[in-house]
Amino acid sequence: MIEFINLKKSFSGREVLRGISFKIEKGEIVFILGTSGTGKSVLLKNLVGLLQPDSGEIYIDGDRVDQKTEEEYLPVRKKCGMVFQHPALFDSLTIFENIAFGLRKHFDLEEAEITRRVEKALHLVHLKDVDKKMPQDISYGMQKRVSLARTLAIQPEVLLFDEPTTGLDPVTTNAINKLIFDLSRELKVTSVVVSHDMHCAMDIADRIIVLDKGQVVAEGTAEQMMQSEHPLVKDFLEEVERGH
Ligand SMILES: Nc1ncnc2c1ncn2[C@@H]1O[C@H](COP(=O)(O)OP(=O)(O)OP(=O)(O)O)[C@@H](O)[C@H]1O
Ligand SMILES: [Mg+2]
Repeated sequence: MIEFINLKKSFSGREVLRGISFKIEKGEIVFILGTSGTGKSVLLKNLVGLLQPDSGEIYIDGDRVDQKTEEEYLPVRKKCGMVFQHPALFDSLTIFENIAFGLRKHFDLEEAEITRRVEKALHLVHLKDVDKKMPQDISYGMQKRVSLARTLAIQPEVLLFDEPTTGLDPVTTNAINKLIFDLSRELKVTSVVVSHDMHCAMDIADRIIVLDKGQVVAEGTAEQMMQSEHPLVKDFLEEVERGH
């Protein structure tokens, strides 16, 4: 479904992505782990065309995307829905209108279909009776769910999450992780989750990819991670141990 081949990206002469190559199969839940500043967000932004790589190739569903123009990228963004780290809802719009916003802007849909999609998306993230509320009237955890609903309404084939649980309490973190897992299985979408939470990754990922200093240093299932000799993977796993 997604393939990166030898992706490189520098900012003012400083190499952030240093030749990244890996594949993600259709329907997989893949966690991309790495310490802060390692280039995880830069990698996701290259995938959705918010940044352009210096060299290398990116394929989505067999289609090379890294050289597309802004206009050519629109269908890619409909296929790959990104859930950003911060909800960034429009303060002056109701929850309903926040979710409908992208549908109105990029799709030519009847009002009844918009309503149907918004209601379905809210149902999928287990939110009830919030459609007429304003963002400031609901909790941060609920806002994160609304931002997920906003992406689901577009009905993407791939869901990209940039740190979906960072800064949330453990209960909300578990709820969001369960949601990612259930949605991926129920809607049969491919999910890519950027995170530094090895605990969540061990819980729900089909495969884990560990980045360090702009390179892939480990890749495999949770069991394979347990066997890894890489110091960073060991550090991450020790943190999981300590968390229990
Ligand atoms: N637009 C940009 N211009 C210049 N430098 C950038 C830009 N975007 C990212 N960087 C740099 O690239 C490096 C990697 O950033 P990135 O945001 O991908 O890290 P990350 O792995 O997502 O970290 P975190 O876990 O803290 O979110 C950082 O040193 C950052 O300062
Ligand atoms: Mg980041």
